[in-house]
Amino acid sequence: MNSRFISAALTSAFVVVAVSASAEIKPADVVWENDIAIPASLTGVPGDPAEGAKVLSARSLGNCVACHQNSAMPDVAFQGNVGPSFDGVGARWSEAELRGIVADAKRAFPESRMPTFYEDDPAAFIRPGDAYTAKAYNPETFSTLLTAQQIEDVVAYLVTLTEY
Ligand code: HEC
Repeated sequence: MNSRFISAALTSAFVVVAVSASAEIKPADVVWENDIAIPASLTGVPGDPAEGAKVLSARSLGNCVACHQNSAMPDVAFQGNVGPSFDGVGARWSEAELRGIVADAKRAFPESRMPTFYEDDPAAFIRPGDAYTAKAYNPETFSTLLTAQQIEDVVAYLVTLTEY
């Protein structure tokens, strides 16, 4: 590999990084459809269902299974029933609706106890904190509970759950 090739490869790698960073849609810029669905990807990068499954079950990330039972994950202990089971969720809702529900469930279900995972305006929260760290609100570190790509990963996983 000569140095000209390496520098060309590096240049194109930088272009890819720059494009994907600028393609991320900030919470305030999300375009909603009927106040329920988000038709466009939040990142432009296809979600990874395997990563989404991890986010769904990890206590420190989405912790979705604390409230939602998921038969596709029999090994995950202590699944909750505060929300509906995930069984068949990919058949009940479109990809755009699932993206909207995961980003901000209070649009579809105004009184929902489900956390708003894609919001970075502290005024939108009753009690803003530092994600699941139980630390007090700090404007320097305050961010969405899940990143845009984690939401895409979760949605990519949920659409696969078409079996009841
Ligand atoms: C604190 C409990 C709680 C957590 C945590 C939670 N949810 Fe929910 N979720 C709910 C409730 C309750 C509903 C039912 C809607 C309502 O509030 O009336 C719901 C509804 C949904 C629905 C619509 C289900 C259907 O079939 O109608 C989806 C999809 C969903 N949640 C995904 C998720 C994902 C993905 C996560 C994790 C990133 C998550 N939820 C975390 C409580 C929760």
